[in-house]
Amino acid sequence: MSTSTEHVDDVPRDDEVPTGDPAVSRETEPRLEWAQDGLPAGVDAHRAALVAAVPDADEETPLAAQLAIDARRRIDLQGRRFPKPERTRVITVANQKGGVGKTTTTVNLAAGLAQSGLKVLVIDNDPQGNASTALGIEHRAGTPSIYEVLVDGDPLDSVVQECPDVPGLYGVPATIDLSGAEIELVSLVSRETRLRRALDVYLDQRAARGEEPIDYVFVDCPPSLGLLTVNAFVVGREVLIPIQCEYYALEGLSQLLKTIDLIKAHLNRELRVSTILLTMYDGRTNLAQQVAAEVRQHFPGETLRTTVPRSVRISEAPSHAQTVITYDPSSTGALAYLEAAREIAEAATQRTGTGR
Ligand SMILES: Nc1ncnc2c1ncn2[C@@H]1O[C@H](COP(=O)(O)OP(=O)(O)OP(=O)(O)O)[C@@H](O)[C@H]1O
Ligand SMILES: [Mg+2]
Repeated sequence: MSTSTEHVDDVPRDDEVPTGDPAVSRETEPRLEWAQDGLPAGVDAHRAALVAAVPDADEETPLAAQLAIDARRRIDLQGRRFPKPERTRVITVANQKGGVGKTTTTVNLAAGLAQSGLKVLVIDNDPQGNASTALGIEHRAGTPSIYEVLVDGDPLDSVVQECPDVPGLYGVPATIDLSGAEIELVSLVSRETRLRRALDVYLDQRAARGEEPIDYVFVDCPPSLGLLTVNAFVVGREVLIPIQCEYYALEGLSQLLKTIDLIKAHLNRELRVSTILLTMYDGRTNLAQQVAAEVRQHFPGETLRTTVPRSVRISEAPSHAQTVITYDPSSTGALAYLEAAREIAEAATQRTGTGR
């Protein structure tokens, strides 16, 4: 197993370093007090020693400060195996606001967890098909997809594809056909629970075939609260809400929370908001800091300590049919998503599993 010790002197190539106040990086500083999982004894001590050996940059040089933070994170994260949850965790990534980072968060967390030794399935439940693009899976019109599962009742097993770049990462594509599903579903029986049934059958089939269980299922939602999102809330046991650190960030959140409460009351008692991730965070601006502080005040237990910075690499990755985790693994954005994935994985060991 690689401990990535070879990277200790490696200066990251990155065009994403902040040019303003070095305090911006504090939101996402590495957390070295965390317990080690799945590595031989001594490896973590070795990592800690290497991390300690990275020289501190002075506050006057934000570029050097960011490089030092990234170097420490790389040493701490690369090659690390994340703990398996007791049961499959099914996480729905939702926010009816458009463009807040739902898809980016879904695919990058999924890739981060899979790269760290877990089995992960992403269900693209958005007719835009953006998650399918980033995962590099086929989703041209006519490709067997989530549409056939939801509308025709096809088994999920018949539409799952293996992602080409990350072993252990699987995807269910969405094609343009899905844009009609919102209306077609209205007249179908059990229209709210179709995805849940399909996933339950798929997970049972895997178990019956003696295949390794899926550790994480992520469901990417469209920016609306229609039947596709309702299906995603019924299949999910947890909701992850990405919040973009911009003005209006919290507007509409109460409607989302009300919808989740309704689903919980009528269709899925297990559902809860487990995770909030602050995305496109630019700590140089007072606004981002204020939004982050407000979100943390409202959701102290749910908001991840890691924030995802604005990053050119993150936005470039999908055009190469990749996640940033494989496109530029040493970039600030990839390291942030890997660290967020670790927080999520380690939270599972601290509370009762929520899946099946
Ligand atoms: N951290 C980031 N840094 C820079 N660009 C980002 C970041 N996160 C997301 N983006 C870009 O912002 C845009 C919106 O992100 P994304 O598609 O993930 O949002 P979404 O919530 O899924 O959108 P939609 O509501 O349309 O489904 C995309 O172009 C994406 O590449
Ligand atoms: Mg999206």
